[in-house]
Amino acid sequence: MAFATSVPHGGVLVNREDKSAEALKQAKKNQTLVVSDWSISDLELIAIGGFSPLTGFMGQRDYESVVENMRLANGLVWSIPITLPVTEEEAERFAIGETITLKGADGVIYGTLQLEEKYTVDKEREAELVYGTTDAAHPGVKRLYENGGVYLAGPITLLNRPNHDQFAAYYKDPKETREMFASLGWKTIVGFQTRNPVHRAHEYIQKSALEIVDGLLLNPLVGETKSDDIPADIRMESYEVILKNYYPKDRVRLVIYPAAMRYAGPREAILHALVRKNYGCTHFIVGRDHAGVGDYYGTYEAQELISTVEHELDITILKFEHAFYCTKCGNMATTKTCPHGKEDHIHLSGTKVREMLRAGQKPPKEFSRPEVAEVLIRGMKAQER
Ligand code: ADX
Repeated sequence: MAFATSVPHGGVLVNREDKSAEALKQAKKNQTLVVSDWSISDLELIAIGGFSPLTGFMGQRDYESVVENMRLANGLVWSIPITLPVTEEEAERFAIGETITLKGADGVIYGTLQLEEKYTVDKEREAELVYGTTDAAHPGVKRLYENGGVYLAGPITLLNRPNHDQFAAYYKDPKETREMFASLGWKTIVGFQTRNPVHRAHEYIQKSALEIVDGLLLNPLVGETKSDDIPADIRMESYEVILKNYYPKDRVRLVIYPAAMRYAGPREAILHALVRKNYGCTHFIVGRDHAGVGDYYGTYEAQELISTVEHELDITILKFEHAFYCTKCGNMATTKTCPHGKEDHIHLSGTKVREMLRAGQKPPKEFSRPEVAEVLIRGMKAQER
């Protein structure tokens, strides 16, 4: 089958999976290391090609180059280090050259790492350069500080994929999304990253993009997020209702993105774009404060940073201004299309919306589709119970 038009980052879609009984049998003979869900999601994304051209956890040369210059050591753009952090005591258990079996806290063997390097990092430097802050209140930086300070590196093999049964209908790997786009006859596909329910502003920018491309890949991140974000299962139900009620069936596909959220704003926007290129998208949306949290990044900082490397990404970045509902225009708009003032614009913060939902109040229909609000209120209530 012919693939969609976009070429994976670095040219080849990586596949580091071995489903054979023999591989699993061998893995049982190795020393084991229990790793976090976050690391397991990285392992999966490397193996299924989402993080192409990476074939393993980054060694020091790549790590330094990515942190310092947003490039792999070979010069290819890459914005976030993909590493396997362990404590010093854990690192001492393993020798260079050894194959380590990676287990989850659930006891499942997920894969193996051929240990090529161990190196110690300066976490504050990584925080400053990757996240733009050393503040431990930043959820990505907090995670970095909590992790061990030694990184294990080398090529990986995935032996068992993490369980995505909960969202089985919406799980596809990059090879499968590429095949799906080809079978749908889509030549231009816009990828949309989100960790939130789809609100009217998201809908507006997605549909603006849909006016110029063949299809939309709604690709919500369902890996680890911070505790006050809306859980993935509730969000998934909200995506189902909005797609059913407000989107043309034959022009959108919902597929989960099984990664952890870093909240690294501008740097993460670049990672998000590269990954969606690997999934076969030709276009990617970067709106206001993409992958941001709190006040750490400027509203358009992600757009500005991605603009500096856009010509090397081979995926078209669609940048959208802050969208809102204008009561005078009677529609969704941005300052590019609306002449009215702030007092006419309906804009709610994520925090405000979560407060309303928890209190069982529906946000205004100009902000959130009523069907979506209903799902969210029900979901939040069930979660509290
Ligand atoms: S993110 O952390 O996954 O980026 P979110 O789910 O809120 O957060 O955003 C998904 C995408 O929509 C991002 O590209 C973001 O920049 C964009 N976006 C969110 N809200 C708006 C808005 N009001 N106007 C324009 N773009 C927006």
